[in-house]
Amino acid sequence: KWIVDKNKVKTESYPHVQQAAALLQQDEVVAFPTETVYGLGANALKDSAVAKIFKAKGRPSDNPLIVHISNQQQLINLVDNITPVAKKLTETFWPGPLTIILKKKAGISELLTAGLDTVAIRMPDHEIALALIEESGLPLAAPSANLSGKPSPTLAKHVEEDLNGKIAGIVDGGATGVGLESTVVDCTGDIPVIFRPGGVTKEQLEKVVGRVDVDPALEKEEASLKPKSPGMKYTHYAPVAPLYIVEGSPQYLQHVVDKARKDGKIVGVLSTDEQIDRIKADVVLTVGTRKDLHTIAAHLYEVLRAFNETSVDIIFSESFPQVGVGAAIMNRLQKAAGHKIVKENE
Ligand code: TXA
Ligand code: MG
Repeated sequence: KWIVDKNKVKTESYPHVQQAAALLQQDEVVAFPTETVYGLGANALKDSAVAKIFKAKGRPSDNPLIVHISNQQQLINLVDNITPVAKKLTETFWPGPLTIILKKKAGISELLTAGLDTVAIRMPDHEIALALIEESGLPLAAPSANLSGKPSPTLAKHVEEDLNGKIAGIVDGGATGVGLESTVVDCTGDIPVIFRPGGVTKEQLEKVVGRVDVDPALEKEEASLKPKSPGMKYTHYAPVAPLYIVEGSPQYLQHVVDKARKDGKIVGVLSTDEQIDRIKADVVLTVGTRKDLHTIAAHLYEVLRAFNETSVDIIFSESFPQVGVGAAIMNRLQKAAGHKIVKENE
């Protein structure tokens, strides 16, 4: 096992990427950075390699993987029909945090796509990820490089925490940028449908294609509808202590915290730069500034993981406006909280 320093990768013309690419060609799994989160890559065209991803992560076999590509030819090799919507969106947002779903070509692995007739594809906007795909000459199947159920990794050390000893290596590219996963968009029809909110916002998609729908299962608080993106039905991103989202004023959040502490609980609060000094609890961590929701997206998983290093029994989180990247932030928080929400007016 080896870990590579980001600066070394750049100055030595990617020697560690070459090493990682060689492992991928031997059907091994290797973690690598993308602009969203770290991915756990393997040859998407070989089932024995793809199977190792599911095994290392403990991922249920009904949850399909995303194929990472670096050029248009790889897209053509995976699908028969690039729909007009897919064409427009990929021209605008690739490379970038957008995953498209299209009907797959005959012969594309059932294991990779969990038996669906569609395949998820994205071109990541990260120098190391693209270099690895080019160098190996392979489309890379890659889910987030965490154990199933844990927050996705935004630093190489998170991958190490979860997967040390279970994978062939990690290419360390430092902190990822966006911090939340890509937006998954069904592009099989005339109107794109968001299956998972992410780095590219609904507002950005609408500017390019007009109408964009959202999978109704995402808008429900209870998991009563079956989500179209199989992964969205699992509890995810969860820290060890139970997490509650608090909707209301800072005073109300303090009130909720005080009540739990009176009950003898050690209380953590997931807060922001604006409110961290006003909240009194046992552990208060800031996730970023409300003035720029991208800072909150970038640090959310890191802070959820950081609570596991403390002895808190319960965590209360501030909530965020569901506009722009706020939609993805609240989607991940709600899943991490198992939809446990405390509201001021109820
Ligand atoms: O940003 C990302 O997307 C990261 C980086 C590593 O690229 N990857 C990632 O992969 O988040 P993963 O496996 O953690 O999430 C993939 C999501 C899951 O919710 C899965 O169910 C969905 O995409 N998905 C994959 N193929 C699909 C398909 N054919 N139809 C519907 N949903 C699909
Ligand atoms: Mg994941």
